[in-house]
Amino acid sequence: MKIMQRLMMLFLLLAAINVSAQTTDPKMKPFIDALMKKMTLDEKIGQLNLPGSGDIVTGQASNSDIGKKIKEGAVGGLFNIKSIAKIRAVQKVAVEESRLKIPMIFGMDVIHGYQTTFPIPLGLSCSWDMKLIEQSARIAAIEASADGICWTFSPIVDISRDPRWGRISEGNGEDPYLGSMIAKAMVNGYQNHDLNNGTSIMACVKHYAAYGAAEAGRDYNTVDMNRLSMYNVYLPPYKAAVDAGAGSIMASFNEVDGVPSTGNKWLLTDVLRKNWGFKGFVVTDYTGINEMIDHGMGNLQQVSALALNAGVDMDMVGEGFLTTLKKSLAEGKVTLKDIDDACRLILEAKYKLGLFTDPYKYCKEERAKNDIYTPAHIKAARTTAAESFVLLKNSNNVLPLKKSGTIALIGPLGDTKENMPGTWSVATDFNLAVSVKTGLQNALGNNAKVLYAKGSNLDADSTFEKNATMFGRGLGRDNRTAQQLLDEALAIANQSDVIIAALGESSEMSGESSSRSNIEIPQTQKDLLAALVKTGKPVVLVLFTGRPLVLNWEKENVPAILNVWFGGSEAGNAIADVVFGDVNPSGKLTTTFPRNVGQVPIYYSHKNTGRPLNDSLWFQKFRSNYLDVPNTPLYPFGFGLSYTTFTYSEIKLSNATLTKTGSVTATVTLKNSGEKDGAEVVQLYTRDLVGSITRPVKELKGFQKIFLKAGESREVSFTIRADDLKFYNADYKAVAEPGDFKVFIGGSSVDVKEASFKLL
Ligand code: BGC
Repeated sequence: MKIMQRLMMLFLLLAAINVSAQTTDPKMKPFIDALMKKMTLDEKIGQLNLPGSGDIVTGQASNSDIGKKIKEGAVGGLFNIKSIAKIRAVQKVAVEESRLKIPMIFGMDVIHGYQTTFPIPLGLSCSWDMKLIEQSARIAAIEASADGICWTFSPIVDISRDPRWGRISEGNGEDPYLGSMIAKAMVNGYQNHDLNNGTSIMACVKHYAAYGAAEAGRDYNTVDMNRLSMYNVYLPPYKAAVDAGAGSIMASFNEVDGVPSTGNKWLLTDVLRKNWGFKGFVVTDYTGINEMIDHGMGNLQQVSALALNAGVDMDMVGEGFLTTLKKSLAEGKVTLKDIDDACRLILEAKYKLGLFTDPYKYCKEERAKNDIYTPAHIKAARTTAAESFVLLKNSNNVLPLKKSGTIALIGPLGDTKENMPGTWSVATDFNLAVSVKTGLQNALGNNAKVLYAKGSNLDADSTFEKNATMFGRGLGRDNRTAQQLLDEALAIANQSDVIIAALGESSEMSGESSSRSNIEIPQTQKDLLAALVKTGKPVVLVLFTGRPLVLNWEKENVPAILNVWFGGSEAGNAIADVVFGDVNPSGKLTTTFPRNVGQVPIYYSHKNTGRPLNDSLWFQKFRSNYLDVPNTPLYPFGFGLSYTTFTYSEIKLSNATLTKTGSVTATVTLKNSGEKDGAEVVQLYTRDLVGSITRPVKELKGFQKIFLKAGESREVSFTIRADDLKFYNADYKAVAEPGDFKVFIGGSSVDVKEASFKLL
């Protein structure tokens, strides 16, 4: 692995050096000018059309419905088609049978890996390891580009502070700073600083903007947000992706300031193009234009014109552009310049991807055979998955387990391959994914025995279970009674030395259109867990989830909890690596776990209010709190245990004051005070004590993942500059305001050392 990682790093370094030498190809503009002179209005509008792919049958691509449209020049690209044979077949129609032979662009939801699948993004973010995250996107790009795909609908950088929202699983958690770092790493991994190099794919940042703030966590719901929160919290990750050179961006389904993003000129033109200087193209989300009819913005012609005028360039699926723009132009509702501008941006993307030079550039048999699901990629997926796990509890060092004796593996998620890759893994092969059972058996060989029982269904309600296991993720519902399933589980538990309970959410219980109002483990599984704990045997809960869950009973009663999210194709092996201590867990939460759903939204970077609660109290009359639950979360942002322990010294500051152009260095000595080697994510937070607008009680400003041998100590330093303290003020200007600041360093957002300095 080390060699692989080093080679990858060298590759990334060379690519980074290459970027400075890279300029826009001077031949691009004349080429596109000449092409556009030949294009009819219909052909220009055709480039803006991204229809659903339908069912493309290789031998009949030319005669299919989509084939007919391609021949007419009415299709700019297609998406979510897998296999170079199919992609080649439709591309052939475009470049041989359409009048101008313009190649198509092929997109896909390559979200957390391609065939080699990495942890879901929320899990990946918990690694806090930008190199691993970038590497996962690089590998995804290598595999996708070997299989016909040159454009991915990723990264998803929607900040979310609402675990009810199923798509929290697809983003990077609650924090804008961390979210921005990950956005940049993902774009760099996909695009590799050069879209034309053959193994890059174009990134599409989504869902712009504030999709993660849907009211009540219900997917697609209204967003009602003030501009300061947008600027300070929700927009930074999209901007970071744009700054990293993302080639495209996807408008979100939700409204912003009363106008759906898809028709929102402020978002798509004023902020994105004018303020941020975005040069790529904007695509809608799936039928995003048509959905503006239901939002109450007019009929199809009106909403299509609204979208184009706002700054949309490509229409996904709905064909509003294709069917109405010509009429709108004739009626003066849109301009030819706007159509031309959009068309040019799509053609530029194709040019940059090298499709005009070779339309089959991403359809090479050799690469499809050799570059996908390689041993090196599989190894990377395994390492990355283990880094994403978060150890939430480990009483009496139950973990790691010994590789001996008899282990009872119990739970509906213990013997399923289909639920390992996680939501939105379009290109994965379920059959190749490693279940927990297989992972444990691989690790144990003949040294120990694994006994398995399902123990319960996913949920008592079969309709719920059906809705939560779509897209081939079925769990083979067991028609025995709950008692029969439990009896079987207890029988094997009683023969075992230790119990691993593989429970939680199925992979489709989070993701798109999978919001939940109750964010606990389903009751039937909780009953099973309680019965297992009652046996008195040590129980390790291997928890699958795509969102923060409410785990009060579990925290109180289960000896060990390892949160494994959905780890990707190698999940089972990675779980075994951590459970048996071959890997020491080092993941830290990037999203707060509440005590109950009534606390939502709950996040570390909240404001103080005028009536803050004294931290040590549960309740004080006339303070901001609840009668029935403390203000504190169950597990805070940044939290995660290890098989070793780390201690922090007090903070040493290089100066007590910071000038506008200077810096302050904050240093702690970190010690691995336990008995095992391990890594710690050291986190730096600041607090601006007085501002022209109210400021959060803590803001993440830096982090370093530090590996220390048992007993080893190291100084860890962070440099703080005035720029790091900037925020958007009431005029939406980024400013660092002079005054007193606190600085915190620690192993979570609550467990920190503290010091103070002044910005002059
Ligand atoms: C999702 C997007 C996705 C698109 C295309 C939509 O339903 O919101 O995230 O990229 O479908 O598959």
